[in-house]
Amino acid sequence: MDYELLCRQLRALAEEEAWYVPLLSNAAALLYEALERVNWAGFYLCRDGGLVLGPFQGKTACIHIPRGKGVCGTALAEDRTVLVKNVHEFPGHIACDSASNSEIVIPIHAGGRVAAVLDIDSPDLDRFSEADREGLEAFAGIIQETACFEERGMSKCAQR
Ligand code: SME
Repeated sequence: MDYELLCRQLRALAEEEAWYVPLLSNAAALLYEALERVNWAGFYLCRDGGLVLGPFQGKTACIHIPRGKGVCGTALAEDRTVLVKNVHEFPGHIACDSASNSEIVIPIHAGGRVAAVLDIDSPDLDRFSEADREGLEAFAGIIQETACFEERGMSKCAQR
């Protein structure tokens, strides 16, 4: 997988618009198009201490994930990438799409705290290698550097 190309495409999108709604929407579309053997790619956003569904591509997904629950809630609580080779062996895994067998979740920070997580599911067992982890962490890092997570005061975003 050419993650350098994917990161360049993401940077170009972020240069045009940094507000998180269009940026995360196009980032999900980019990943879903480019990655093979993936059945869900998208974001959960931090709200009220837990996670709420954000922009994504794939089947409809669960809307709320409490902190510490499932793969996404664990990545939030422990503030680290969680790579799961077999989701059926992960205690508390939340099955949104029964086709999913492996998963990677990467936290994205803003203002020193987790603002969102990137979540990618695969129908294959052990789909995500260390190279995928590195590439996807770089991809998430660009969102972290560029995204504006402000709901209001969008004029501030425009000045970035
Ligand atoms: N499997 C995730 C839930 C989100 S879906 O995969 C889109 C989890 O256990 O947190």
